Amino acid sequence: MKNYIAEPFKIKMVEPIFMSSKEERVVIIKEAGYNTFLIPSGKVFIDLLTDSGTSAMSENQWAAMMLGDEAYAGSKNFEHLEEAVKKVYGFKYLVPTHQGRGAENLLSNIMIQPGDYIPGNMYFTTTRAHQEMNGGIFVDVIIDEAHDPGAELPFKGDVDLEKLQKLIDKVGAEKIPYICVAVTVNMAGGQPVSMKNLRDVRALADKYGIKVMYDATRCVENAFFIKEREEGYGDKSTAEILKEMMSYADGCTMSGKKDCLVNIGGFLALNDEDLFIKATQLVVVYEGLQTYGGMAGRDMEAMARGIYEALDENYIRHRIHQVRYLGEKLMDKGIPIVRPVGGHAVFLDAKKFLPHIPQDDFPAQALAAELYIDSGVRAMERGIVSAGRDSQGNNYYPELELVRLTIPRRVYTASHMDIVADSVIQLYEKRDQIKGLKMVYEPPVLRFFTARFEPLK
Ligand code: F0G
Repeated sequence: MKNYIAEPFKIKMVEPIFMSSKEERVVIIKEAGYNTFLIPSGKVFIDLLTDSGTSAMSENQWAAMMLGDEAYAGSKNFEHLEEAVKKVYGFKYLVPTHQGRGAENLLSNIMIQPGDYIPGNMYFTTTRAHQEMNGGIFVDVIIDEAHDPGAELPFKGDVDLEKLQKLIDKVGAEKIPYICVAVTVNMAGGQPVSMKNLRDVRALADKYGIKVMYDATRCVENAFFIKEREEGYGDKSTAEILKEMMSYADGCTMSGKKDCLVNIGGFLALNDEDLFIKATQLVVVYEGLQTYGGMAGRDMEAMARGIYEALDENYIRHRIHQVRYLGEKLMDKGIPIVRPVGGHAVFLDAKKFLPHIPQDDFPAQALAAELYIDSGVRAMERGIVSAGRDSQGNNYYPELELVRLTIPRRVYTASHMDIVADSVIQLYEKRDQIKGLKMVYEPPVLRFFTARFEPLK
């Protein structure tokens, strides 16, 4: 096994997984409307739908579950979480939420006026949905290369400062409440942002009095990439790098379900007291009291511990290398994937994998369904279905038409990665036989979650 770093943990508790036949899976995927979100998890062999809330907690975190202070107000666990966020991320104020989108809701609500523009380094589905529901207009200011799956750049998540400057010149700084910087960029393939770029964004924002808010969901992975790739950071700890990254932001939204290593939870962190007060006024409406924000005390305790654990160098090195191991296996066989391999997932390039299927026939959706039929591996579409429609009702046509093989944290081993790779390679060999889909049910927002499809004749 070349280039594989052994799992830095032992398995203490096991969860059996479902083995099925291909004949069974043909029926299951049909019943699920060819949408992998609609497959019952008990019918999945290796679940790479998402890295969100799917992490295995450590013994230390499970022990924390017994220390829940479930008082309605002023829970001890909140204090521990607050301390972890201050220490590790360096922000002054913490508003807990039930998960990342709860924080996005609060942030969009308190900062966006109808007609405002929100520049961001590529969209994320829930983030953009909240911005738009508050009357904001999302503007993509990521570098062009991020939309090209084959472009090999160390920091493909960088903000294009010229695009940002152009937007400021065009609409005026007063129409831009904040710049949203995702570290890493999920939809670009888990690509990181460089420290230099974060510094430059801060400087440009300061010139115009614009705030900088991070989507910190996968910030530890971003910090590790900086350690590996950016000059001057090789000898720094991932924790030090993370702290520096955060020092260039006014606040962040966080889905604790990823880099905080928990199954549920999130937060909004802020430095500005006025914004914090506004957020606490809203959190009680949407989430819960400002000292639990929709989480149980035990969940806050587990998240506080997860925040520290994610910065263990052995953990984060293995994490990044496990994902890369799967990506390299596929690249060795000439399979088109987003390059370089990102932090949380390997993304198959469905446009190149299935060049005979036009984007209107949902190539990535079709490929994800075929992968499930072939091996019981569950992946996720990240292409035209996920992109949805604009406010006029027209389909977005994203450059990237991808299938995401998302690796849960501390859950699967190298042999699972080998099985996934073998199945993808097998499909690639018979790719001309794969056909497109037609959508037969479409919900009005975030359609990818529940849309249904049928195979084209
Ligand atoms: N921001 C990013 C970059 C995300 O990837 C997600 C969730 C969120 C915000 C929202 O956080 O789920 O806790 O409400 N991503 C999951 C995924 C759903 O599968 O990529 P949430």
